[in-house]
Amino acid sequence: MNQYVTGTVIKDLREKSGMTQLQLAEKLGVSDKTVSKWETAKGYPDITLLEPIAKAFNISVTELISGNTVFNENVSANTLRSKFYVCPVCKNVIHTMGEAAISCHGIQLMPLEAEETDERHMILIERVEDEYYVRIDHSMTKEHYISFMAAASSDEMKVVKLYPEGGAEARFKIRGVKRIFFYCNRDGLFSIDPVKGIDDKEVGYDNVKERRELEKTADKLFG
Ligand SMILES: [Fe+2]
Repeated sequence: MNQYVTGTVIKDLREKSGMTQLQLAEKLGVSDKTVSKWETAKGYPDITLLEPIAKAFNISVTELISGNTVFNENVSANTLRSKFYVCPVCKNVIHTMGEAAISCHGIQLMPLEAEETDERHMILIERVEDEYYVRIDHSMTKEHYISFMAAASSDEMKVVKLYPEGGAEARFKIRGVKRIFFYCNRDGLFSIDPVKGIDDKEVGYDNVKERRELEKTADKLFG
C-alpha cells in the first residue's frame, strides 16, 4: 500500500479516464506542467488537492492513496461475479460479490483469476440425486493441497473449507449452480462449468464406445 498518492497512480487513472494532462489540470485549477511533474515523480500534489483529484476520477481518497481502485459498475449482487481473495500468510479466504480493496497481514490482496482445470488438477463431477458430488484428483499433504471448494449460482455461493490429510471432495445442491471453483494452495484458483464437466466426460465415454464398435466392424470386414 502506498503512503501517499504516487505519480504512476495519477497517470494511470488519468489515462483510464481518457483525460489529457491539461484537462485534468483545468479541473484542479493547476497547470498541465504541474500534473506532468506529479506523473514523472518530480513532486507530490498538495494535500488539499487529494479530494479534488479523487473527485476528478470518481474514486475515494482512500483508493487514491492506496493505489487500489474499485470499479463495480453494477452494484446489484450477483454471485457469478464473485471474487476470491486468499492471504498467502494465514490462508484466510475472503469472498466478495465484486471487486474490493482488501488487505490481510499487511498484504494488499489481489482478486484471484480462475483458470480452467488442467491435468494436474482434474475435477470429477457426478450427479447424485439432487447434488453434485465433486472430487479433485490431487494430493492433500500439508505442503500441497486443495484448501477450499465453492459452488456459485446467480444468487448463492457455497464455500466448503478443506484440510490437509482430509478428502478433496464436497457435495453441492445442483439447483442453479453455474460454476464450481476450487483452490490449490500452490497452483491457485480453478473453475469449471459443472454441466460441461460432466458432458465432456460423457462425450469422452461415447467416443470410446463408438471407436470400439468401429474397431469390431473393421475386424469383421478386414480381420
Ligand atoms: Fe496443485
